[in-house]
This record gives sequence, structure tokens and C-alpha cells, in this order.
Amino acid sequence: MSAAKPLPYDMPPSGVHWPHLSALAKAVMDGPDELRIAFLQDPRWIGYPRAVETLRDLESLLNHPRVYRPPCRLILGATNNGKTAVLRRFESLHPRSEREDGEATRIPVLYAIAPPKPSEKRFYESILRRMNAPTNATDSVSRRHQQVLRLASEVGLGMLVIDEIHHVLAGGCAQHREFLNILKSLSGELQIPIVCAGTKSAFHAMQTDPEVGNRFQPLPLPPWVMGAEYLSLLASFERILPLRLPSNLSEDALAIRILAMTEGRIGEMVTLLAKAAELAITSRQERIDTQVLNAAGFVPPQQRKELPDGLD
Ligand SMILES: Nc1ncnc2c1ncn2[C@@H]1O[C@H](COP(=O)(O)OP(=O)(O)OP(=O)(O)O)[C@@H](O)[C@H]1O
Ligand SMILES: [Mg+2]
Repeated sequence: MSAAKPLPYDMPPSGVHWPHLSALAKAVMDGPDELRIAFLQDPRWIGYPRAVETLRDLESLLNHPRVYRPPCRLILGATNNGKTAVLRRFESLHPRSEREDGEATRIPVLYAIAPPKPSEKRFYESILRRMNAPTNATDSVSRRHQQVLRLASEVGLGMLVIDEIHHVLAGGCAQHREFLNILKSLSGELQIPIVCAGTKSAFHAMQTDPEVGNRFQPLPLPPWVMGAEYLSLLASFERILPLRLPSNLSEDALAIRILAMTEGRIGEMVTLLAKAAELAITSRQERIDTQVLNAAGFVPPQQRKELPDGLD
């Protein structure tokens, strides 16, 4: 009986160490398939140019001297396109530490999520929670406000980051005007930059107050379009997909197909490529092509919004 035909990925002589992959991906290549599939599920950071520019801008804001009207930012983008990832990355680059006197934690950058409804009390609560401060349901709004100011000074807060800001800027004009005033006075009282992230409704709400619109400079994270930056993003993804053969994702046909399936959202690309890579591993094809993309079980965002057959 003749020996089994070698699979394509058995062909490189030993000593060839996956030149198309990053060091991180190479580290799992000799492990079992399950390890490579688990590796696909771990979130990874890709420093694409606009994200790096945004981080640099936030860095300069953090180093800005204290002023009564600190410069602020609004990171703007469609859903699933990397706003939270940039903010969490920035927070992780400025970790908390023990204060020298051991009496408190130093928090250079505090990340909080706006409450789902425009409630001032819950807004302060979400900030206090991230400071690990005890909150009491019976506390008044002004008590919580004072607690935020006092603790911000105690922990040496340098920047306040509020994600999902559109939640508190939704609703009627009176409500969102109240929140614009809260943001304005909070940044003045704390004398630190506030960086918000949200969808375009947040931008429109901010523009209704010229002072806020002026102070919160928008930093857009637009959907991806065909071009050098997108192709370079695909090349970066390819380097962290632990497949034995190169897929050449940045070649035109695949790149166009991926862009169409994901509507140019980075989060959708992560999901699609992880599913496709898993199929490439389990099917032993070891590379992603158009057929693998189509068969990976990825449901494009638009289709997810449609009612399943038989329910209308
Ligand atoms: N720089 C990046 N490198 C690698 N993956 C990223 C990056 N940015 C975003 N992602 C991926 O995209 C997914 C969506 O990103 P993120 O949660 O930041 O989007 P978002 O704009 O905050 O969405 P939403 O408006 O729904 O809150 C993340 O879970 C992550 O997997
Ligand atoms: Mg988000």
C-alpha cells in the first residue's frame, strides 16, 4: 500500500517556521487544532493607522496642562467599528497603580459607560462604580456629584472616558441639553479632558450647543473602504490567523468579498475571519478562499436585521 499523500502543509521541510505569521500565531502552530481554534477566539489589538493616530491624540490630551476649559473629544463611528477597542486600549496603556502613600489607587484614565437612560444620578453612579467607590441607592444627585469630584482628585484622575454617550444624549431636547450642561460643567470642575464615544446621534446632539460642539472635537472612525489602509488591515489579520498556508486576503477578489460581507466594519471582519479560519482548520484546507468565506456560517449584519422566514 502506498504512503498517504502528504497534505500541502506537511510539505515545508522542518525548520520552516510559518513565514506568513506573526510570532504570536507561530507559537500555537505546533499545538493541536483545538488550541489554534481557541486562539482565534482571543481578542487581539491591531494598531491600524487611524487607531494609532487617535491614541496619539488622546495621549497629547492627557498631557495637556490643566485649564478651566479642557479640550475634549468625541470618538464617532458606526456600531462595531472599533470605538470601545480604542478607548480600552488607551486605558490599558495607562494602568491604575498604588499611590506612594498606599492610601489610594492612582487612576490616570477612567473608562465608564453611560447609563442606558439620561439619568444624572446613574451617570455619576457609573463613574463611581469604576472607581470602586461604594454607592447608596438613597444618595442624592448632588451627593454623588460631590463624591465624583472628591474621588477624582483623590485618585489623581487625568482623563474621564465615557463610552456609549448617545444613550444620555437621546430623548427630548430638554433632556439632552441637561446632559450637555453636565458634561460641560464636569470637565470644567475636574479641569481634565472628557473623551466620549458614540454614534452620530451624539454628534448631532452636541452640535445643538455651540460651546459643547466646539469643545468636543470629533474623531471619526469611519467604515472601511477599498484602499491601501484596508488592504494593510487584512494583511495584519492574516498574520494572526493560525493557518498553515497563506490566504492572501489582501488580493482583490477576497478583499472585495470581505468588504461586502462585513459592510466595512472591523468587528464584523474579526467575526467573519475567525469563523472562516476555523473552517479552514477543521476542513484541513488551511487557507481561506471565497468558498470558505461563503461556507463559514457568517450572517452579514444586514441579514441579521431581517425577520427569520415563517415569522412574518
Ligand atoms: N484595533 C483593533 N484590532 C483588532 N480588533 C479590533 C480592533 N478594533 C475593534 N476590533 C474588533 O471589533 C469588535 C468591535 O469593536 P468595538 O466593540 O470597539 O466597536 P464599537 O465601535 O465600540 O461598537 P459599538 O458601537 O457597538 O459599541 C471588537 O470586539 C474587536 O473584536
Ligand atoms: Mg462600543
